Order: sequence, then structure tokens, then C-alpha cells
Amino acid sequence: MKKERYLVTSALPYANGPIHLGHIAGAYLPADIFVRYQRLKKQDVVFICGTDEHGVPITITAKNENSTPQQVVDKYYKIQKTSFEQLGISFDNFSRTSYKLHYETSQEFFLTLYNKNYLVEKKIKQFYCTHDKMFLSDRYVEGICPHCHTPGARGDQCEACGKWIEQTTLAEPQCKLCGNAPEIRETKHWFFKFGEFQDRLKKWINGKKDWKENVINFCNGWFNEGLQDRAVTRDLDWGVPVPLDEANGKVLYVWFDAPIGYISSTKEWAQKKGDPDLWKKYWMDKNTKLIHFIGKDNIVFHAIFFPAMLIGCDNYVMPENVPANEFLNIEGSKLSTSKNYAI
Ligand code: MF3
Ligand code: ZN
Repeated sequence: MKKERYLVTSALPYANGPIHLGHIAGAYLPADIFVRYQRLKKQDVVFICGTDEHGVPITITAKNENSTPQQVVDKYYKIQKTSFEQLGISFDNFSRTSYKLHYETSQEFFLTLYNKNYLVEKKIKQFYCTHDKMFLSDRYVEGICPHCHTPGARGDQCEACGKWIEQTTLAEPQCKLCGNAPEIRETKHWFFKFGEFQDRLKKWINGKKDWKENVINFCNGWFNEGLQDRAVTRDLDWGVPVPLDEANGKVLYVWFDAPIGYISSTKEWAQKKGDPDLWKKYWMDKNTKLIHFIGKDNIVFHAIFFPAMLIGCDNYVMPENVPANEFLNIEGSKLSTSKNYAI
């Protein structure tokens, strides 16, 4: 019998704290069971992971711990890697998004999309904290969700209703660092034209008969609202620099570079095996079954945004499945590193 080829990924955990039982139950143990089963069946399997080392959760942890982002990710990369080893999660490679290979891979990805005109430059309004002298991207700002009116919503996504938030529509915004109300200033960013991919994505997802219903329903909710252009760059001093001269001081949005981490981790695995081009067989040969194990808060990124980026770049395989698991709750609340509520 011909071997089947599987490329299995588990969501790259943010290197901003130890992993907790919620992570294990959602994205790691189910994936490990699946790959062990496929290995027993003698299939060709590569199991990929690594730490997600950019984004605001890391910079906020650094501020809270009175250290630097680099110190934070170095510390938690080690802690997480050791935990996974001790738990027996059998990754074939566990990489880091702060590696040079990852910077190169994600910058190249950005430039490919840029050269194909899938990225547009726009001037937008953003919250700016005059006390901390910085733009408040994503989780640096909290306020009342404009959709469901829950307080404590962040400047990227509301955890209560799951909707994406255009940050300047938050009511009663507060800087997460100093608590002051930010002002609105103009800045420039690059937007990925997700809308151009809507029809293809919708057809693709609705043709999937074996996907979990929660994943398909969630995606259809996004399609019904219509996919919008989204900024894939940020004004932050931590992250992968945007590879354009006129973008000095800007970095790639963490949700742009992190999933590319699956590709760079596979490249690193291939290099370690002494066959640097071997990653291409897994990412570019259409017979590969690419499977992303994730927690349900990551659905839109793995079932819509990253696939759109893959289509935009051509010649990559598309996910065969995106098994997304529910949150593990303790006493009715979900486990969370950033809220320091976990085992
Ligand atoms: N770090 C994210 C989280 O913990 C997951 C990133 S998955 C990847 O929610 F695709 F971006 F890598
Ligand atoms: Zn502030």
C-alpha cells in the first residue's frame, strides 16, 4: 500500500508563560495521539511545532516582569520545550519564531504577496498613548466591545462574542500599560486583501465533508459578514521587520508571521535531517495532508486567514483539516496564561 503523507501541526504557543492543561487538552495531546496512530500505521508523518515569540502578549509580559521581550521568550521557550518533552508530546521539530530562518521565510512571504498586489498601503487612525509614547496595537488597549457591549474587550478581538474589532470603535478605551485614555492618530499600514479570496475559501470550506461542524459554522459566519482587508503590519518595536524601505520601524502582525512559523519549523527540520529541500515535499506536493490542531479561538486564522495567504502565494498545499477543540474550563472559566488562571 502506498504511504500517505501527513504534515501535522499544533498551534505555536505564545512564549509568554508556562503551558497549562488548557493548551495540552486543546492542541497538543489530540495531535500527539493522531501522529502516533499514523506512525503505527507506517505512514509518512512530520509533526511540527515551536514557540510563537512575537506580538503584544510577549511585550506586555516583559513589562510586567520588568524584563525585555527577548528575555521573556528565551525563558519560556526553555520552560515550554521541557514541559512538552516531559509530557511525551512527540514533535519532530520544535522551533522558535525568533530564529533568523523564520525572519527570512516570513519576509519572503510578505514580499511575494506584495509583488502580486495582494497587499495595499493605507493611512488609518489608531489609538496612541501620549504617556507611553506609542501606538496601542491589539491587546495594548481595552474597552467596551462595540458589538456585544462587554467591557474588557481588546483592540483586536472580543473574547465574549468572538468578533473582530476595529480598534477605534472600542468605547471607553484605556491604555493597558498606564490606564489613560489614548488619543487617535494617523499611521500607515499594509493591508492584505482577504476579500479577494472569499469566494474560493467559501467553496473550499463548504466542500469539506469531514470538518467539525463548529469550524464550518464559524467560518460561514465570517463569510456572511464579508471578509475585509486587514492590516498585517504593526507599529511595534518587537517582531519581524516589514521588508520595505518605507516601513521603517514597523513589524509584521504576529498573526501574519506566526503561521508561517509552521513552514520555517519544517525547513529547520529538513536542515537538521541534512536535506534542506525536503520541506517542499510536505508543503508543496499536493498529496500532503496538512492538519492543524488548534484551540477554537484560533479558527479564523487557520481556516481563513492563513489559507488565503497560502492561496495568494501559489503552490502551497491547503489544510486537509483544521480540528479545533473547545476550551478546557475550571469552575466555569477558561484557562488563560494572560489572565494567570491555569494549572
Ligand atoms: N500563539 C497563538 C496562541 O497561543 C497560536 C499561534 S498558532 C500559529 O493562541 F499558527 F500562528 F502559529
Ligand atoms: Zn499608556
